[in-house]
Amino acid sequence: MLSEIQCLTRSLRALPKLGARAFFTPTASRFVSLWVAAFLLVRFVDIGFAHESRKPSELSWFKTSDAQIDSLVSRPRECLKLPVSLEVRLGRLAFKSPRLLGGQAGRMGLSCDSCHRSGRDNQDFFIEQLSDRPGTADISHHFLSSAGGDQVFNPKPIPDLANRLALKVQDNDSQAFSELLVRLIEVEFDGQAANERVFESIRSYLGANDVTHCAQANVDEPRSLESDWIMIEDGFNILQTLATQAPASSDLAVAKFVASSMRAQLESFYRLYSLQPNKELDLELKSLSSVLQRNFLAREDASESKLKAKPSIAMLEHMVLRFTALKRQLQRLELSSYYNQKLARQALKRH
Ligand code: HEC
Repeated sequence: MLSEIQCLTRSLRALPKLGARAFFTPTASRFVSLWVAAFLLVRFVDIGFAHESRKPSELSWFKTSDAQIDSLVSRPRECLKLPVSLEVRLGRLAFKSPRLLGGQAGRMGLSCDSCHRSGRDNQDFFIEQLSDRPGTADISHHFLSSAGGDQVFNPKPIPDLANRLALKVQDNDSQAFSELLVRLIEVEFDGQAANERVFESIRSYLGANDVTHCAQANVDEPRSLESDWIMIEDGFNILQTLATQAPASSDLAVAKFVASSMRAQLESFYRLYSLQPNKELDLELKSLSSVLQRNFLAREDASESKLKAKPSIAMLEHMVLRFTALKRQLQRLELSSYYNQKLARQALKRH
C-alpha cells in the first residue's frame, strides 16, 4: 500500500517534466487555442458556486457561535490504520463530499462527515428540524428524504463510527452493513446510487477508521487549510491513478465523482475565504472549478471509448500546477479567513 502512494507521489512529481514535453510537440498550438477558448468560456459556464450567501455552509448546523467556531478550527481525531491506501482515500473523499448526498442534505452542503466528523461523531450538530439537542439527528425525517422520510420526530445521538463496539452493525464486511449504507445514501439522504467502486471505498474507509488505532482517540486535532486540502490532494492522487492504470469501465464515473467533489471543496474554500474577499483568489477558485467541470463533468459517458474517458497526464499536470499555486495563495490569506478563530468570532458576533 505504501509503495502505491509512493509511486503516486513520484508520478505526481514527474508530471511537470512530462507536461513540458507535451507542450513543445506539434500539437502545442492546438493545446494553446484550447486553453484560450477555455479561458473565454470561464465567464459563461456554470461555476457551480452558490450565489445567495458566502458564509461557510457548516455554520448552519450548529446552535451556538462557540460550536460554530470550534467546528472551524478543530475536529475529532481520525484514527486510520496506517498506511492509508488509495481505496481508503477515495472512501474518505466520498464520505466528506456533499455530492454523495442528494435532496435537502446535498443542497445544504451536508456530507456524511458533517454528522460523523473525521468518521467519528459530532456532539455539537444541531439542525432545528432534525435535532432535539446538540449531537442528535433524526435521519429518517422527511426534511432530508422524500422517499424514506417518516412523520415521527425521533432524533438519535450521532454515533462515533470509529468506536466499533458501540455500534449496532459492527462488521463492515457484512451484508447488513451494505444494506445500511445503501439505505443511508439512497433513501435517507436522497442520493443517487453510488458507483460501486465509490460505494466499496466508503466501506473501506469506515473499516480502516477505528479508535483502537489512535493513542489519544478523544483528543481533538486542529482543522486548518492544510487538513481541508486533503480533499484536493487525494482527488489528484485518484485521478492520477486512473490516468496511469489499465482502463476500467468505472473510470469515468469515478473521475466525475472525484472532480465534482473537488469542485465542492473549491466552493467550500470560496466560502471560508469570504471574510475579506480577495478578487484574484475568487477568480482563480471559480476558474479552477470550471476547469474541473469542463475536463471531467461535461464529458459524455456513452460516446466515449474507455481509453478516451481516462484523464490525460498532460491535462492533469497542468491542473496540478495551478492547484499548487492556488494552495500557496490560500496559505498566504489563511489568517484573514474563517480559519482564523479571532476573525471568525468577530464576524459571527456581527450576525
Ligand atoms: C444528519 C446527520 C447524519 C448524516 C449526514 C449521516 N449520518 Fe450516519 N447516523 C446519524 C445518526 C443520528 C445515526 C444513528 C441512527 C440510529 O441510531 O437509528 C447514524 C448512524 C449511522 C451508522 C450506523 C451505526 C451503527 O450503529 O451501526 C452508519 C454506518 C452511518 N451512520 C454512516 C453514515 C454514512 C456513510 C453517511 C453518509 C452517507 C452518514 N452516516 C450520514 C447521523 C447522520
